[in-house]
Amino acid sequence: MTDKDLLMAAREARQNAYAPYSDFGVGAALLCDDGRVFTGCNVENACYPAGCCAERVALFNAVSAGARNFSAIAVTGWQRDMEGGMCMPCGVCRQVLYEFAADMRVITGTPEDIRTFKLSDLLPYGFGL
Ligand code: THU
Repeated sequence: MTDKDLLMAAREARQNAYAPYSDFGVGAALLCDDGRVFTGCNVENACYPAGCCAERVALFNAVSAGARNFSAIAVTGWQRDMEGGMCMPCGVCRQVLYEFAADMRVITGTPEDIRTFKLSDLLPYGFGL
């Protein structure tokens, strides 16, 4: 699974985004050490804080299927029909991902311009027990 493959899986997941309030659709694809890929999209709610980001939907989807070890997550998002792709995980998602793999790679951007980061660089001194 290349970074581009994972980003394409995130773009596909974005198609199911439920984002009637922000119109900012996000998709995420999480790669497990064993090769499995779990995806998620953002799911908004009329009570705004009750919505959930695509990254956490993907992670909770994976964890609830028994997965625990992750090497990378691809994230992509853009508003309305202004197709783009660069979408950095929010602070809450960084912390939630950090729980499982501080050294996970974060992939974003567009298929033509892929950007990669290390989660531990995006969340220095993250909290863990
Ligand atoms: N969102 C995500 O799903 N992931 C991110 O990394 C950033 C923001 C969602 C939350 C909300 O549904 C919409 O994008 C606008 O903030």
